[in-house]
Amino acid sequence: MSKPVIARVPNATAIAKAAAWLRRGRLIAFPTETVYGLGADAGNDAAVAAIFAAKERPRFNPLIAHVENLAAAERLAEFEPRARKLAEALWPGPLTLVLPRRADAPLSLLVSAGLDSVAVRIPSHPIARALLGACRVPVAAPSANRFGSVSPTTAAHVVDDLGDRVDLIIDGGRCRVGIESTIVELCGATPRLLRPGGIPAEVIEELIGPLAAPDDGPPRAPGMLSRHYAPRLPLRTDAAAARAGEALLGFGVAGAAADLNLSRSGDLVEAAANLFAMLHTLDRGEFTGIAVMPIPQTGLGRAINDRLRRAALATAGGGGGNEWTDRGPAAPCVLPGMDDEA
Ligand code: TXA
Ligand code: MG
Repeated sequence: MSKPVIARVPNATAIAKAAAWLRRGRLIAFPTETVYGLGADAGNDAAVAAIFAAKERPRFNPLIAHVENLAAAERLAEFEPRARKLAEALWPGPLTLVLPRRADAPLSLLVSAGLDSVAVRIPSHPIARALLGACRVPVAAPSANRFGSVSPTTAAHVVDDLGDRVDLIIDGGRCRVGIESTIVELCGATPRLLRPGGIPAEVIEELIGPLAAPDDGPPRAPGMLSRHYAPRLPLRTDAAAARAGEALLGFGVAGAAADLNLSRSGDLVEAAANLFAMLHTLDRGEFTGIAVMPIPQTGLGRAINDRLRRAALATAGGGGGNEWTDRGPAAPCVLPGMDDEA
């Protein structure tokens, strides 16, 4: 990528340009009332994969889908009555709701990292709202920082941290709230606070009653609450070839004869974009298992290998597994919303 375009005057022209670029699959950093987000079209696998590449995230944490209004949010997730109450009272604003993902949600599987829940938020910042209104697609956006850095609250922070990894930065000055949104999960009987943030927990509890702590009850991690995608079939990594009955998921030119190929040209961003969808397809085929060819442990390859290792562990040993779920990752997991960088 070349140097980012920086829109210092966030007028209608800048917004229109950013929206058009977003729709073409490019990465846009934009201000929200909490922190700057690194946005991409949430329906575009390659664009969402590019977010992970730009941030150098070592694993596919699920991302928040940002939308313009409640109608758009309802196309992505199921709102039970308490969720609707919070949405009506506190949106637009620094609240993220983790809800059951609709089967027909127009979202890349990578946005929710294969989970069957999805995080949704309507930001209140006028520039974020104008951008979401102009692009008319859900925008996946983590905080616009590299893995391990703190969340950016000015455009200058984004430039320093991501520089030429982002195509365009809309400068909206300093973020008013300055800490990330509060994340509440409403997928089960008890609402849970997954991450404290811009809206105090007390305000939420006043509306819907007590919130469980993220670690109340059985241990949860991405994959516990609604489980990270793990295939039904046993999965084997670093496979040179398929054994009888197995599907082969290839990578690079060596995978020319594979059933599916994550990226013929060996492009890790393309491979990440294809990962969940291809596992899904093979899992539904007439195979006894899935063998995956080696993926280089560089760049996005680390996150791909992390996901594959978890899937391999989760499907190994025929149910000896862990005590929480039959399919959840057996490897140590980071609690959603609570990892150091997110
Ligand atoms: O204020 C914010 O929320 C900012 C602005 C840009 O909107 N965004 C932000 O995104 O902080 P990010 O990716 O840095 O943090 C989102 C957190 C992650 O820790 C992720 O694990 C959690 O949300 N999350 C997303 N989807 C989830 C899901 N389906 N289940 C559980 N946790 C989820
Ligand atoms: Mg973050």
